[in-house]
Amino acid sequence: MQRGNWGSRFGFILAATGSAVGLGNIWRFPYVAGENGGGAFLLVYLALVFTIGASVMLSEFVIGRAAERSPVSALKKLKGGAWPVVGFIGVAAGFIILSFYSIVAGWTLAYIVKAATGALTALDPNILAASFESFISNPIQPLIYHGIFIAVTVGVVTAGVHRGIERSCQLLLPLLFVILIALAVRSLTLPGAMEGLSFYLTPDFSRINADVVNSALTQSFFSLSLGMGAMITYGSYLSHKENLPGAALWVVFCDAMVAVTAGLVIIPAVFAFSFDPTEGPGLVFITLPAIFGQMPIGFIFSLLFFVLLFIAALTSAVSLLEVVTAYFVDERGLRRKPVTICIGFAIFLVGIPASLSFGPWNGITLFEMTIFDLMEYVAANLMLPLGGIAISLFVGWAIFPRALEEATSKGIHPFFWARPWRFLCRYVAPLAIAWILIAGL
Ligand code: PHE
Repeated sequence: MQRGNWGSRFGFILAATGSAVGLGNIWRFPYVAGENGGGAFLLVYLALVFTIGASVMLSEFVIGRAAERSPVSALKKLKGGAWPVVGFIGVAAGFIILSFYSIVAGWTLAYIVKAATGALTALDPNILAASFESFISNPIQPLIYHGIFIAVTVGVVTAGVHRGIERSCQLLLPLLFVILIALAVRSLTLPGAMEGLSFYLTPDFSRINADVVNSALTQSFFSLSLGMGAMITYGSYLSHKENLPGAALWVVFCDAMVAVTAGLVIIPAVFAFSFDPTEGPGLVFITLPAIFGQMPIGFIFSLLFFVLLFIAALTSAVSLLEVVTAYFVDERGLRRKPVTICIGFAIFLVGIPASLSFGPWNGITLFEMTIFDLMEYVAANLMLPLGGIAISLFVGWAIFPRALEEATSKGIHPFFWARPWRFLCRYVAPLAIAWILIAGL
């Protein structure tokens, strides 16, 4: 069977970065950092990202490229036994994540429309909060945007690996970086921004506790697209000459940069206008329009910002869908286009209860979580970290010699970190993740 391939090394790195950089960095990171003490969270987050995160990233690339298969068949081919189950869990996690992810992505689409039509110009945050609440609790409107978002994602994935995914990232990601930096400059030059900057950059060590560490771990896996096979799938389309450790480090670095910059956009502005950094998931949708509304030509910034968020969400959603699609294409031999359309439709349906849980179904809860929260919790807090443990153990114990050969591209690229990497895979990552998971329960 003919498999797609990346057009260039740069294309692969862009696509992997596009997967990593998403709502996780721009919507989720700033509010989770705000809720968890700013600087303290940032410190723990960066420490986790550059150790466990980088190690799992490399492990996923290695598995994907060594096997040239999507997760389930890759694990089957490299070792077999019970390992492919890890791939199944990843496919399921991808499905669940995309179902709730596209709800929030749909909100960003709606906010592009609102920004463009001048509906976001109210100065009073209370009015903006009320309009956000009434929008997300509406039983119909968010579902329309959810459907449009899925349709666009399906369109990109059906176009295939090279034409669809790589080309859209090549075009959109550089644009995203430029807009983000412009916004950070705007935010940091607001009068009063420095107080926010110090909240964000000065760690208060007394605030570091099990919850903060647990939130940082969940955030790092979600943001780096780790633990569910997205990076295995992307790695499987890569040529055998590429330097994998370099690529892994680069993607981790870019992802962390975008998250840190998103914090630099949002947190100083929140302080400059005396809003509350612990506002939660509404932070981006309520506070930012309020901030932009008080700036000269703010509506243009507002529009740019939501376009940026949409782009970021799309390139991530594509990787989530690609994992599920690749499973059916590789493992079941089904045709890419019809299968992707069917999966998209199923994801649309599963997303409906998640969206309704902000409105009419708000009262339906399990363990005090709404349907949306429960989906997010199960996938992001449990499935991704567990996947990270399994992937680390797999590389560290089951296939390490083969993995090392792949990481050095059969000796072409020197890899000075082979021993630390093995130590991370065998002991540090599995034990630390397990400990953080248990402490967070
Ligand atoms: N990393 C993406 C983001 O930050 C979300 C994602 C998670 C994508 C898992 C793929 C796999 O928004």
